[in-house]
Parts: sequence; C-alpha cells; structure tokens
Amino acid sequence: MKVGFLHSLIRVEEKLLLAEFRRQSADVQMLDDRNLIFDLEHYPRLDVVLERCINHSRAVYSLKFLEDAGIRCINSSSVAAICGDKIDTSIALDRVGVAQPRICVAYSHESALEAIEQIGYPAILKPIVGSWGRLLSKVNDREAAEAILEHKERLGSYQHSIFYIQEYIDKKGRDIRSFVVGDNCIAAIYRESAHWITNTARGAVASNCPVTDEIASISLAAARAVGGGILAVDLFESDRGLLVNEVNYTMEFRNSIEPTGVNIPEKIVQYVISGSG
Ligand SMILES: Nc1ncnc2c1ncn2[C@@H]1O[C@H](COP(=O)(O)OP(=O)(O)O)[C@@H](O)[C@H]1O
Ligand SMILES: [Mg+2]
Repeated sequence: MKVGFLHSLIRVEEKLLLAEFRRQSADVQMLDDRNLIFDLEHYPRLDVVLERCINHSRAVYSLKFLEDAGIRCINSSSVAAICGDKIDTSIALDRVGVAQPRICVAYSHESALEAIEQIGYPAILKPIVGSWGRLLSKVNDREAAEAILEHKERLGSYQHSIFYIQEYIDKKGRDIRSFVVGDNCIAAIYRESAHWITNTARGAVASNCPVTDEIASISLAAARAVGGGILAVDLFESDRGLLVNEVNYTMEFRNSIEPTGVNIPEKIVQYVISGSG
C-alpha cells in the first residue's frame, strides 16, 4: 500500500504522524502543496492520501484532484469543504438534527445588525473560513455591533461581508474538543481559559475530559453529518445540553496526547492504513 502525505509546513502533528507511519512500516510519499503541480493527465500512483495542509483552499482543491484519480482521501474533499466553511457546517449539522448554538447569516450592514438584534447580546461574529480563534468578535451591545460591521464591510474582503452571527454560549470558562476516528470517539479534552476564546493556540489549557456516552454520541453524529473520517469536534456545555460549535477536518492534537493518554497519531495511522477505526 502506498500512502500519500499531503502537507505544507511540517508541524509537530505532521512529525508525529510521519514517525508513526515509519513505525508501522508504511510506504509514504510526501506531497508538499508548495511544490505540487496538478494537471488532468498525470497523477501520483497512490492508494490513500492523508491530508494535512494548512490552507483550506489548497486542501480542498488538492483533494478534488486526487479523488479524480480514484485515490481514497482522508478526509474527502467534500468533508474538507463542509468543515472549512462555518455556514456549510451549520447546515450539515442541522440537516440531521445535531444540536448547535443558534445562528444567522446576513450580507449587508443593515441586515446583519438586525440579525444581531434578533440573536440578542452578546452575539458572536465569525469569519466563515478561519481557525485558531482568529477574527472572532464578541459583540456586547448595539454600538459595538455597528462599529464591527462597519469595519468588516469597509476594510475586509468580500468574505468579510458574509456575516455569520452566532448566539453566545456562557460555557463557564471551557469547551470540549473531542476526537473522532472513523466510528470511534477516541478521546476528548477540556480547553480551559479565562478568555471566552478557548483555542489552545490562544493559550487555553488542555486537560482530560472523560468520553461520556453523551459526548461520544453527539461527536459521532456531528462527524457523520459532515461525511465522517478523522475529525475534531468543538462542543459547548449549555443549559440545553451539549451543543456542537464546529467540526475540524485537519485536526491538531499535539496538546491532547499527554492529558488523555491516548496515542492519537497511532489511531490516525491505523485508520489510514486499514480503512477503519
Ligand atoms: N457562540 C460561542 N459562544 C461562546 N464561545 C464561543 C462561541 N463561538 C466560539 N467561541 C469560543 O471561541 C473559540 C473558537 O471558535 P470557533 O468557532 O471554534 O472558531 P475557530 O475555527 O477559529 O476555532 C471556541 O473554541 C470557543 O471557545
Ligand atoms: Mg474551533
């Protein structure tokens, strides 16, 4: 079996995965998205590709080309496209009835302001494509809403005029990040921070979160809703039970191995090689 490793920068996660592929004696071909040239005639001869790009568009288009050559890709281009876009993710979750915070989408300053007022304060504004908690705004009142909408509309790109507005969930200083590999929820962490943004990339502290039946069941439902594969699910604890905030398709796990005691790269590599979790 020949495994393609689609990547850009080799970060800690990629080093751990490559070491695990070596340990399992896999035949790995590196596919660096900074050097790749795709055409419609020449394709690498590979059985499976694991996607580890940093840039969302590069990941989706590369996966489309590789799938066109009949190569099994993890995750698929469709999963990447859905998870990389917060609107598509919300729609996919809603379609199968997975609980999530209330959301609104609007395209103009005026309609976005009205949507924010409907959601109520504080409201959260997010770029539809993005990660590591970047460019998220917590809008506490109408004056802040007006200022942020004007800045986004005048200074941002077209994408910043697609306003994704979400209900704020008072999640008591932490959220949950669960890890799904195929049909299994293999681990979860709490991400705790004094700040309302609890990405570990923003300094939140990770600790083990026991995978309860409720966590496993909503995580697997969310993963299935977007098409399944190797996914990390952001969950909020709320008065209405667990809510899915988003699903991540090129998951980071460097801070989660030690607290959970789960060898996450080993589970990923096993899944890539054997085709099951
Ligand atoms: N609606 C919300 N209510 C409360 N906290 C939120 C909300 N949305 C996001 N956050 C906080 O911000 C973090 C990042 O938001 P997220 O939607 O996951 O964006 P990113 O793709 O940048 O990780 C979440 O992990 C959470 O801590
Ligand atoms: Mg997130």
